[in-house]
Amino acid sequence: MTILDLAQKRYSTKKYNTNRAIPEEKIEELKEVLRLTPSSINIQPWKFTFVQNPAVKAKLAAASLHNEEKIKQAELLVIFSVADDLDVFQKVVDSEYVPALRDWYTNMRANMPEADLKLWLEKQLYIALGVGLSASIALGLDSTPMEGIEADKYINILDMKAYKPLFALAVGYGAEDDFNRIEVKPKSRRSQEDVIENI
Ligand SMILES: Cc1cc2nc3c(=O)[nH]c(=O)nc-3n(C[C@H](O)[C@H](O)[C@H](O)COP(=O)(O)O)c2cc1C
Repeated sequence: MTILDLAQKRYSTKKYNTNRAIPEEKIEELKEVLRLTPSSINIQPWKFTFVQNPAVKAKLAAASLHNEEKIKQAELLVIFSVADDLDVFQKVVDSEYVPALRDWYTNMRANMPEADLKLWLEKQLYIALGVGLSASIALGLDSTPMEGIEADKYINILDMKAYKPLFALAVGYGAEDDFNRIEVKPKSRRSQEDVIENI
């Protein structure tokens, strides 16, 4: 399948098949692909939390607004969180990163309002979401990106420290009767003329 075939095939799944398990090797491959996500200056300000435990997933589902049902149905929920305690993240930068990266980031931190720096870190997570969406369909898996989650409740449920959830990705196999399946609801996008400029 070409990259275009995959882009045409992927859709945001609204109902999952609860009887079909994801092979473990596909989940492991998704972890590794997310780890390889590129980021500005290679800052990697993320944590990807893979939740398959049904009891924990049910608690998260209850803290996910209109996304509750699909999270309960999907076998896997991946939570994308950004470094939120910048002093804790500085320790990662100081201990794990090459000097050039460490110095660049430290200089940015010293010269930028904290709110702007945090926004820049958050943007990096959206690159990982794009990677995760493409990787899922390439692995033959359906998925749903979801900003509709209650971050504070997620932090409590997961006992998360120093990171803040931004959004989540449900992953599994779409139900045959999902109203959002591509065969039922064709892709809706603006035309190439509207969004592509050729110079
Ligand atoms: C960042 C982001 C957040 C989204 N949040 C939700 C969400 O909370 N719940 C949901 O059902 N769909 C959510 N979506 C799915 C979008 O509505 C969907 O991608 C868009 O309508 C295009 O449809 P398609 O993904 O089927 O091509 C989100 C998508 C993105 C990229």
